Amino acid sequence: MKTKVKSIEHLVENMNAEEMKDLMNEYNIKSPITGNDLSDPMEFNLMFSTSIGPTGTLKGFLRPETAQGIFVNFKRLLEFNQGKLPFAAAQIGNAFRNEISPRSGLIRVREFTMAEIEHFCEKDLKDHPKFDTVKDLQVTLYSACNQMEGKLPEEKTIGQAVGQGLIANQTLGYFMARIYLFMVKVGVNPMKLRFRQHLSNEMAHYARDCWDAECKTSYGWVECVGCADRSCYDLMAHTKATNIKLVAEKKLAQPISFCDIVDLVPKKGIIGKEFRKEAKQVIEALTNLNSDDVTAVETAIIEEITPSVIEPSFGIGRIMYAILEHNFHIREGDEQRSWLSLPPVVAPYKCSVLPLSNNPDFESFVKQLSESLTRFEVSHKVDASSGSIGRRYARTGPNSHTFWYNCGL
Ligand code: GLY
Repeated sequence: MKTKVKSIEHLVENMNAEEMKDLMNEYNIKSPITGNDLSDPMEFNLMFSTSIGPTGTLKGFLRPETAQGIFVNFKRLLEFNQGKLPFAAAQIGNAFRNEISPRSGLIRVREFTMAEIEHFCEKDLKDHPKFDTVKDLQVTLYSACNQMEGKLPEEKTIGQAVGQGLIANQTLGYFMARIYLFMVKVGVNPMKLRFRQHLSNEMAHYARDCWDAECKTSYGWVECVGCADRSCYDLMAHTKATNIKLVAEKKLAQPISFCDIVDLVPKKGIIGKEFRKEAKQVIEALTNLNSDDVTAVETAIIEEITPSVIEPSFGIGRIMYAILEHNFHIREGDEQRSWLSLPPVVAPYKCSVLPLSNNPDFESFVKQLSESLTRFEVSHKVDASSGSIGRRYARTGPNSHTFWYNCGL
């Protein structure tokens, strides 16, 4: 029985309510504490609704992701990039979700900090110019296929995974590699970091392919960063709701070959409205274009495209939790003696100044050294207390570089 439950455990998240109900009946699942019957599984809204305005009659929702703020600003962002694709925008902010059971410190919370990048590109041009710089990076990948078949994750280079079509395209692979490099740089243990591909039912409605960077913690494997190919879903959805086109223009390298005839037919109604008294002249000018003019118009024809989006999305609290857990150590046999080994890049103090003697003559040197460090923006701590040097070093905190300041003695 236990083996059977283990073998289906990983599929549960992928089930709909009806399938979960069948499973609960099959295994006669009861409340683990009271042994009571459980209610049937039900769907619930993950978004928080709220009332807006003085009368509170307007219904609104708190944002469940920061991403949409970037999508609605797409036209401005495109302008900043001279109308050209690809480009990316990044944002950090709070998001809110109706988490069913908030717990586990920073891991299950209803309000959390997200950092998201939206990389806009053409849907058929998802190769990345910097892919070569990351293609040999080895990562642990837990493909949807291996999950379904109960197999283990595999080690592969990003290049192999994209080459085999396991990761959908180079841009998605490039960002997964950058996520890996970032996570390791800020202190996540690479042995406790893997990418898990979403199963088809689990994939958000907007995603074509999605991989979660998961960190192993005492709560199990925890999703810390998502990396999704959102295709053109979001821009299309905003356009549909607002009738405002969110597109980029692409000049065609050559005219579309199956469309040999370019026939300029003036739309008299529209021209009349727009040009009024001059409409007649405009219509005449268009009608009198010769074949060269028509060819010029033909070659200048532009195609409007709705860009695709590749989105790395970071859960800051969860990443911080993983960093703290991966860098927390306890001295064997002495639980009271614990320490953090944070990499300098995230350590709050980069350095400590520990005078070896209480001699008052040292004070001015210590002050001078501390002021120099401040001038160079090196966060540091001065500890001139009387504790042993080892104790003061440990107390200063994680992985700092220490000046054992002995004034040349
Ligand atoms: N923007 C991705 C997410 O909210 O999970």
